[in-house]
Amino acid sequence: MAQPTTTFNDGESLPQLGLGVWQVPDDQAAMLVEAAVNAGYRHVDTAAAYQNEAGVGEGLRRAAAGAEVKVTTKLWNASQGYDRALRSFEKALERLGRESVDLYLIHWPAPAQDLYAESWKALVRLKEEGRAKSIGVSNFNPDHLKRIIDETGVTPAINQVELHPRFQQKALRAVHKELGIATEAWSPLGQGRLLEDPAIAKVAAKHGKTPAQAIIRWHLDIGNVVIPKSANPDRIRQNFEVFDFSLDAEDLAAFDGLDAADGRIGPDPAKMG
Ligand code: A2P
Repeated sequence: MAQPTTTFNDGESLPQLGLGVWQVPDDQAAMLVEAAVNAGYRHVDTAAAYQNEAGVGEGLRRAAAGAEVKVTTKLWNASQGYDRALRSFEKALERLGRESVDLYLIHWPAPAQDLYAESWKALVRLKEEGRAKSIGVSNFNPDHLKRIIDETGVTPAINQVELHPRFQQKALRAVHKELGIATEAWSPLGQGRLLEDPAIAKVAAKHGKTPAQAIIRWHLDIGNVVIPKSANPDRIRQNFEVFDFSLDAEDLAAFDGLDAADGRIGPDPAKMG
């Protein structure tokens, strides 16, 4: 089965499953990206804050032969503001060794700085110039989304947020649907903590799949763009073997039951930065 893609509100598209490289050291990133592209991945997600854009760029060049691989990177909090965002983007392109990126995101709203609307105006310019093919945000709450749309008339293509079976973000997903924003899940495996969950193990066993594969399939089936991270080539390959099955209503109900009010693992976007 062909890998599914998500179409953005700007007409561009992104393979729904990508490789996440948070916490991957720069000197391993090239090897892992190359392994991922060889396994079939056509989408890699990095960030200035991960300090591995150079390794990711090298991996994409090594794997380049014939493979069009989309790359996302993100503006770090300390670089927010109109001019600083533009300068930071240039540095990201240099590190990646590219003329453009497919998707550029504001990493966190960092509301205490109150610069995210100015930063968004810089991203709008980068999109107009064609150097960021699509632009979006990460960790934005509905009030942050509404403000940047009100101030520019430009709706982000995507919002990348913490999302996994124990933190399903149902209210935010409904807002995204209403506004025409794609949902992207970071820490989609709950940083590995969900891999021992008995309800997930049961769904996985029913399909002859691993818990990681069952969780990734859940993300695809509910419409998320999903970027599982692994620093292990075998697990990177395993995480891509998810296009030959789908979950039924009983499986989806089992996942539904795992959503928890205290399921958040990472920082609260209203307080971070
Ligand atoms: P590793 O990098 O050693 O493979 P998330 O994407 O939710 O942040 O989860 C990433 C964590 O899950 C990492 O600790 C990663 O470990 C682990 N992981 C990723 N894929 C698998 C897999 N298929 N099986 C087991 N653990 C996995």
